[in-house]
Amino acid sequence: MFSKKMMDHCENPRNVGSLDENDKNVGSGMVGSPVCGDMLKFYLKIENNIITDVKFKTFGCGGAISSSSLMTEKIMGKTIEEALKVKNKELVEELELPKLKIHCSVMAEEAIEKAVENYREKNK
Ligand code: FES
Repeated sequence: MFSKKMMDHCENPRNVGSLDENDKNVGSGMVGSPVCGDMLKFYLKIENNIITDVKFKTFGCGGAISSSSLMTEKIMGKTIEEALKVKNKELVEELELPKLKIHCSVMAEEAIEKAVENYREKNK
């Protein structure tokens, strides 16, 4: 039922962990899903507008884990603007997420937006 790529990201999630939130260059964003009540947190390290490190933690399902893991691969080394353009639809397509798991991928997109907001707030 699940795609190979999704299983791979679930079994070996990339960039799991956290970054130091006291660091001025680190922005973090936490999102809870209204559908299932699961949570997801992203940490972005941003230097000269480039994402130089990214980590995530989730108390979510395989859909959330694989979406977050793929998201970290996609945005590493990108500019903030490029990272914000990565939409959940892209994750859904590449991971072939079943309909019931689409909301899980939305959390990854929203967590990035929140982490960028947090970073900008800190560096105003
Ligand atoms: Fe809750 Fe997927 S994140 S069901």
